[in-house]
Amino acid sequence: MISAGIVKLHEDDKYSLPYEKPLLKRWGHAASVLLVFNEMFPQLEKVMAEDGPKGYGYYDSFLRWMDTYRTTEIFQEWNKIHLIPILEFKQGTEFTLLDIGCGCGQHIREAAKLYPNCMFYGIDSDTPSIDRAIKEQGDQKNIIYHHMRGEQLSQEWKEKFDFVLMNEVLHVASDVDGILKEAKRVLKPDGYGITYDPPVSSDPQKQANNSTAQLFFPFGLFTCLPACLSDPSGEGRGVGWGYEHKKQKIEEYGFRVIKIGQKDTEAVQAGIIFQK
Ligand SMILES: C[S@@+](CC[C@H](N)C(=O)[O-])C[C@H]1O[C@@H](n2cnc3c(N)ncnc32)[C@H](O)[C@@H]1O
Repeated sequence: MISAGIVKLHEDDKYSLPYEKPLLKRWGHAASVLLVFNEMFPQLEKVMAEDGPKGYGYYDSFLRWMDTYRTTEIFQEWNKIHLIPILEFKQGTEFTLLDIGCGCGQHIREAAKLYPNCMFYGIDSDTPSIDRAIKEQGDQKNIIYHHMRGEQLSQEWKEKFDFVLMNEVLHVASDVDGILKEAKRVLKPDGYGITYDPPVSSDPQKQANNSTAQLFFPFGLFTCLPACLSDPSGEGRGVGWGYEHKKQKIEEYGFRVIKIGQKDTEAVQAGIIFQK
C-alpha cells in the first residue's frame, strides 16, 4: 500500500491516508458499486445468451447507488465547471433551456436556482424519473417537466430554446438520430447544444490501457448498454461509441462544434458544444 502510494509512511513511522476525508468517502462509495454489479450479474448473463433478452431497464439498487453518489454538491460543482460558462454566452438574456433526459431533475433544479428569471424545461422518457422530478420540484416555478421522448418533442417548440442540454444521454439513447434532429428543430438559430458523455475515444486502440475507459466501461456494460438495448427500437451505442463518433454524428446533422477554452475539439473530452 505504501509502494502503491495508497498509504503514506511518515518519518516517525506513523501511517496516514494521503487524501482528504470527502474524497476517501467518495471513493469508498464508488467501490460499493461492485456489490450492485454483482446483483445484476445473473441478468447480464441472460442478455449475453444468443436467445436471451436484448437488454434490461435500470435497476433500482443502481439508481439508489447513483443517488447517494451524485450529491447536490456534486451537481453544483458540475454546473459551475461545465454548464454556467456556456449559459454565460447568453448573459443578460432571459434564456430558455431544455434538458433532454433530465432524469430526476437534479441538474436543472440546481441550475434553475441560479437563474430565477429564466425558464427550464426537463423531459425524460422514463416515467418514474419524471414523477420523482415533479415531486422534488418544491416551489421552483421556473421549471416545467414533461414525460416525453427526445426524438418526439412537442410540435409547439419550434426554435424555442437558447440551450438544449443532454448530459449522459446520447450514449444511452436508442435513437440518437431522432434526438439530434429534434434538437435542431427546437434550438433557436443562435442557440447552443450542450452534450456530455464519458470522455472515451471511439478507437479501440486508444481505449486499450486507458484508465478513463477502464473506469467507464463497467458502467456501460452493466447499465448503459442493457438499458438502451431494452428499448423496443433495440438500438444502442454505450460508452464505447466514443467521442469521435459522437462528434461526427453531431456534425452530420449540420451543427458546428465550437471550441470552449483551450481544448482542441479534435481531442477526446466529455463535452461537445455546438451551434446550428
Ligand atoms: C444516465 S441518465 C442521465 C440523467 C441526467 N441527465 C443526469 O445527468 O443526471 C440518462 C437519462 O436519459 C433518459 N433517456 C434515455 N433515452 C431517452 C430518450 N430517447 N428520450 C428522453 N430521455 C431519454 C433516461 O431515461 C435517463 O433518465
